[in-house]
Amino acid sequence: MIHSLQIKPPVIAHRGASAYAPENTLSSFTRAAQLGIQWVEFDVMLAACGTPIVFHDETLDRTTDRQGDIGGHPYRYLQTLDAGAWFHSKFAGERIPTLAQVLALLKEAGMCANVEIKPLPGQDKETILATLKTVSTYFTQPNTSILFSSFSIDALKYLREASKECLIGFLMHDWLDDWKHVADELQCVSMNVNEEIMTKERAQAIKQAGYQLLCYTVNHAERAKELYSWGVDAVFSDCPDKVLG
Ligand code: G3P
Ligand code: MG
Repeated sequence: MIHSLQIKPPVIAHRGASAYAPENTLSSFTRAAQLGIQWVEFDVMLAACGTPIVFHDETLDRTTDRQGDIGGHPYRYLQTLDAGAWFHSKFAGERIPTLAQVLALLKEAGMCANVEIKPLPGQDKETILATLKTVSTYFTQPNTSILFSSFSIDALKYLREASKECLIGFLMHDWLDDWKHVADELQCVSMNVNEEIMTKERAQAIKQAGYQLLCYTVNHAERAKELYSWGVDAVFSDCPDKVLG
């Protein structure tokens, strides 16, 4: 089991530098690199053909030029959608990237990734297996440049079963009193927690238990400063340049 997770500077570009470029696109990751950010976070699900893609919502409505569920569409269809014009006309023609395309870019740039597994309903196991396979093609596993996370405890259980040594962060949106039990069972290296539920006491408890503490999503410098002062190791931000202090 490796326990090493180094996040420097202590900020993770959330869905890439998503305040400046359309989220979860190659442009948003390139923008993060240009800002000097080492770590990016993005969301991974499977297209209907089994290809892992980088996309956040279960529907196409918010971040593409089409509507309806993303589930059921193979990548050969999804790659024809415009995933940039909704953000700004200068990003028109931006595509939904595959996980492989994003990892290739990050590897080339010498960057690190928090791969958030966001399985479509009922796809925990296949999403984990396909993601692990693709990640291993670009980053030898285990690798301290890759932190996996998920809100799905089932997905994280499959992941730990499949890989004894990968770095796992337990994502917590609402506070769970038995968080430590779950994190210990999964042999997590970090707790990735909604900043809205973070308090000084909770931060201390997580740090005292020996976990790295990452908080999402923090877009204001003052809040970031407060969280850092409580021992938070890094924050996820849409505008990572603004929260470095
Ligand atoms: O991984 C941190 C954060 O991305 C979790 O929430 O909905 O933005 O994927 P969401
Ligand atoms: Mg995410």
